[in-house]
Amino acid sequence: MVNVIAIDGPSASGKSTLAKTLSEKLHIPYINTGSMFRATALAAQNRGISWDDEAALQAMLRTLSMEYRESAAGGFELFCDGEFPGEKLRTAEIAAGASKVAVYPAVREELKNLQRKMSSDNWIVMEGRDIGTVIFPDAAYKFFITASPLERARRRLAQEGDKAGGTLEEVAAAIAKRDEQDSNRPVAPLKPANDADLVDNSNMTLEETFNYLYNKVKDAVL
Ligand code: C5P
Repeated sequence: MVNVIAIDGPSASGKSTLAKTLSEKLHIPYINTGSMFRATALAAQNRGISWDDEAALQAMLRTLSMEYRESAAGGFELFCDGEFPGEKLRTAEIAAGASKVAVYPAVREELKNLQRKMSSDNWIVMEGRDIGTVIFPDAAYKFFITASPLERARRRLAQEGDKAGGTLEEVAAAIAKRDEQDSNRPVAPLKPANDADLVDNSNMTLEETFNYLYNKVKDAVL
């Protein structure tokens, strides 16, 4: 058993906000593994490496340093080769690149090695798609956060407005399609670990969901 709180789930389920808030309230580091896939895509772009060249991506990752540091504002941020890519990771182009590089076993293997090194005797909260299934099957706590496609589309529209990419029904259909792709990919598909605590928060506020998680873990961590 390792001192890891694993939080997995599809996009727009609220898992990033939950992981970040847990990190703040429990005073433990927060590792957002999606940023590592995004940083891989960005670093490849900067070096002229194709997102489809698995061997070149692997070679690049072996020379790249990635670490999470506490930022001046208090949160934990990814530093890549000593630089803070920040908002550069958040563009739609880099999100698409992250999904592309994430299908390659060699890329996942390199990032898995880095992610595993981030655990120690001290607690961390790590968020992604395969933390409870592949990265830390022996995590002390595993949560799989989900909500219906319609509810996630509602949240995405509330958060992003016009940038969400269509009407409520269109955004919900796109989310359902991405779920289907992510759940059926051969390597590290998006699925709950057998022993994960499945939290469908379609009818819960984020605060209610947070309280549920916090009450489960607080005695062990604090
Ligand atoms: O969570 P985020 O949207 O930042 O993740 C970007 C992409 O990285 C996802 O669409 C997914 O394809 C990939 N990813 C992954 N495994 C993780 C985290 C992210 O495959 N643990």
